[in-house]
Amino acid sequence: MKIGIVGAGMIGSTLAKLWADGGHDVRVASRHPERLRDLVERLGPRGSAGPPVSAAAFGDVVMLTVPLKAIPELARELSAALAGKVVLDTGNAYERRDATSPARHLSTPQGYAGWAAAMFPGSRWVKAFNTVYFKTLETEAHRAGDGVGIPLAGDDPKALETAAQLVRDAGFDPIVVGPLARGREFEPNTPAYNTGMSGRELEPDDRMAQAG
Ligand SMILES: NC(=O)c1ccc[n+]([C@@H]2O[C@H](COP(=O)([O-])OP(=O)(O)OC[C@H]3O[C@@H](n4cnc5c(N)ncnc54)[C@H](OP(=O)(O)O)[C@@H]3O)[C@@H](O)[C@H]2O)c1
Repeated sequence: MKIGIVGAGMIGSTLAKLWADGGHDVRVASRHPERLRDLVERLGPRGSAGPPVSAAAFGDVVMLTVPLKAIPELARELSAALAGKVVLDTGNAYERRDATSPARHLSTPQGYAGWAAAMFPGSRWVKAFNTVYFKTLETEAHRAGDGVGIPLAGDDPKALETAAQLVRDAGFDPIVVGPLARGREFEPNTPAYNTGMSGRELEPDDRMAQAG
């Protein structure tokens, strides 16, 4: 699959490597793509770099993995290119970093991901990979036994299937929680957030629903 990754920071670069190693073609994006030379070299023949608009056009699936405050600007630049595409959104809001109030987004019915998705009409939005620290992704991918669980939320069943496959390909266990609005159940300060719990541990007692 062709995957565009907008934001080649901690999460973007880690998943780019896992997917390239898993046989996917990956284009990572930066506002300064020339600074991604070392990363592209590490990705090998399946990796390339470009500006955000090029990663958005390249990917059958596009992951947005940027600070929340960048979303409105990226929406102006990319929403037309992303219409109809599966978009994986890793975003979390942190008041200090994002100069925006997490409470404001939490109080919207669909949480941060719903707030972001509304700026990209027609995109098939899936909240994914927001609960796990990037170093855990790096060190625990494809571990023996139960994999680290990655909760997913989205309104498009086919997009959720695609996201679940990409979670597996990166070396983790997908847990489909439900519609996009249920993404609120695995935002920061919920029981599922940043625990490194396996898919099996996340699932049986429905900890995420308890957070609601
Ligand atoms: N770090 C983690 O362990 C972790 C875990 C789960 C979820 N998350 C969430 O995932 C998202 C990404 O986190 P991260 O830690 O990977 O971030 P990061 O390392 O700070 O990297 C973010 C990337 O976003 C790009 N960016 C910033 N402003 C932009 C703009 N206006 N337009 C386009 N690109 C812009 C930057 O690219 P250029 O400056 O090169 O353009 C940068 O490489 C955040 O919402 C974070 O809360 C992070």
